Amino acid sequence: MKAKPRGFFITLEGIDGTGKSTQFRLLVKHLRSRGYCVCATREPGGTHVGEQIRRILLASRTASLAPFAELALMYAARAQHLAEVVRPALARGEVVVSDRFNDASFAYQGYGRKLGTATVRALDRVICGRTQPDLTLVLDLAPRLALGRAHGREVCRNSTRGRFEAQGMKFHERVRAGYLAIARQDPRRVRLVRADRPIAEIQAEIRALVDRFLARRHA
Ligand code: TMP
Repeated sequence: MKAKPRGFFITLEGIDGTGKSTQFRLLVKHLRSRGYCVCATREPGGTHVGEQIRRILLASRTASLAPFAELALMYAARAQHLAEVVRPALARGEVVVSDRFNDASFAYQGYGRKLGTATVRALDRVICGRTQPDLTLVLDLAPRLALGRAHGREVCRNSTRGRFEAQGMKFHERVRAGYLAIARQDPRRVRLVRADRPIAEIQAEIRALVDRFLARRHA
């Protein structure tokens, strides 16, 4: 019997407030309408254990979390996510679309928290190994605009800022610089998408990129 081809792994990334989750939902809808079997998931989270870890990581009252503890919790949630969701879905040949994955740890913990990329890479080798995204879309927006959007969202929902959104402008500038560096270092996998445009325009670019990658894959 012929082995089933591995599925395709797409991740969406960007600093807080770029409109990433809206683009994620639209992309999943698009892929399903084209007949793909899609596993839509997110990080931190995506599993029961991961969602519990997410609550610790995002709660504003977890103010005293040490940067290494934060990184370790991200990878604990990721290990569970890989074992329970991502690897089984890829083995079934599905298109996995994740709202954030390991590039977020490089950008937020490696650059934002200044833990350095070598530290993150060491954990990543052990936990993700060869399970790496095939295509990563980074929604890029100046932190000044993105944080304004994230704040507007909280006012609408009458919610308070999470631990990451509450970090200052300097932190988010480092995170953005991290994403830009990742895109420069791995231009075949990582595509920057300008997020200072209308939702439909951004989505059209994302769909075109994803469709092109999937077509190449099936060719
Ligand atoms: P979300 O708001 O996009 O769901 O992401 C939750 C927050 O977690 C966001 O501020 C980015 C942060 N995060 C990290 O710092 N490191 C990671 O590895 C991941 C996956 C998320």
